[in-house]
Amino acid sequence: MARISVASGLPDFPWDTIAVAKARAQSHPDGIVDLSVGTPVDPVDPLIRDALAARSDVSGYPTTHGTTDLREAVVAALKRRYGITGVDPAAVLPAIGTKELIAWLPTLLGLGSGDVVVIPELAYPTYEVGALLAGATVARADGLTQLGPATPALIYVNSPSNPTGRVLGVDHLRKVVEFARERGVIVASDECYLGLVWDGEAPSILDDRVCGGDHTGLLAIHSLSKSSNLASYRAGFVTGDPALVGELLAVRKHAGMIVPLPVQDAMTAALGDDAHEGVQRESYRERRSVLLDALRGAGFTVDHSEAGLYLWTTRGEACRDTVDWFADRGILVAPGDFYGPRGGQHVRIALTAPDERIAAARVRLR
Ligand SMILES: Cc1ncc(COP(=O)(O)O)c(C=O)c1O
Repeated sequence: MARISVASGLPDFPWDTIAVAKARAQSHPDGIVDLSVGTPVDPVDPLIRDALAARSDVSGYPTTHGTTDLREAVVAALKRRYGITGVDPAAVLPAIGTKELIAWLPTLLGLGSGDVVVIPELAYPTYEVGALLAGATVARADGLTQLGPATPALIYVNSPSNPTGRVLGVDHLRKVVEFARERGVIVASDECYLGLVWDGEAPSILDDRVCGGDHTGLLAIHSLSKSSNLASYRAGFVTGDPALVGELLAVRKHAGMIVPLPVQDAMTAALGDDAHEGVQRESYRERRSVLLDALRGAGFTVDHSEAGLYLWTTRGEACRDTVDWFADRGILVAPGDFYGPRGGQHVRIALTAPDERIAAARVRLR
C-alpha cells in the first residue's frame, strides 16, 4: 500500500499565507511593525539566564518528570499567582513548550479514529493539529448545547483565549467540568495567558470554585513563554489529574519528550520569582492601552480582549482585506480565519512589539 505522509493530512501552515502582506509591510520606509505572531521581544530576566547557565556543565540525562525543585516551584507558583491549591508535585510534568504537548496530547492519551476532540470555535490551531495527528475528529463548539448527544473524548478550553482574549468565568467552567465528569470526558484547559488579565479575574480549571477541589479528569496546561519571556527556551508544564499525568509521564519517558536540565532549572528560577512576571505584565498593559486607543481612533471595533496577549478587532470586512489595509501602513497582523471560520471578519493584533514599534503603530493608525 502506498505510504501516506502525515504532513499531507495537516492544514497548510497558516503563516505562509500572509507572506505577501509581510513583504508589503516590510517595504514601509520606517520598517515593519510586526504584530502578527505574538513572539516575546523583551529580554530574559538575568535571574533566569543565570539559572540556565549554572547548569550548563552537567552532562548526564535529565528526567522526564523534571527535578523535584521544579515540580515544587510549580506547585508554589500556582498557589501564589492563581490561588490554585491541592496540586501534588508528583502530578506536575514539564513539557518542551506547550505547543509540543498540545500537538501530541490526544495521541499520548490514546485517542484515535472515532474519538471527538472539542475545540473552541476560534482556537489556537495546534488543538486541531493534535487531534488530526491522533486520527481523531475535531468539533468546534463554545457551548455544551452545541455538542448534541455525542460524547467527546476530550474538550479543550482556553481562557483567556487566543485569539479573542475572552475569559470564561467560574460558572461556565464549572458547567464544563460537570458535563465532562458525568460522561467521563477529559478536559484540557490551556491556561497560558492566565497571568495576563486586564479586567476582572480569570479562574483556572483547577480553581476550587470550578472543580470543587477534585482534579479528576482535568489537565491544566501552562506555558512560561509569555509570562517569563521564555519562548526560546521551550518551557511549559501540565498538571491536574494525577492518574492522567502519570499516564502522560509513562509515555513521554519512552518517547524521550524530556525538557533539557538547564531549562528545567531556568523554569524553577522563573517560577520562584513574581517580580519579573509583574514587570512584563505591566509592559503589556501599557502597550495594550496605546494600541486599543489607536485602533478605536481609526474606527475599529475591539471585541472581548479583556485578557491575554492580543486585541481581537474588526471593521466589518473580510479579514484578509483588513490584513492588507494594515500592511499598507507597514503593520503586520494575523487574519482571524487562521483561528476558525468564525474569524473571517476579524484580525488579531499582538501586544508583543517593543515600545518604540508600538508608538510607530499609533502614529501610522492616526
Ligand atoms: C493558546 C496557546 N497555547 C499554547 C501556546 C504555545 O506556547 P508554547 O509552545 O510557547 O508554550 C500558544 C502560543 O502562542 C498559545 O497561544
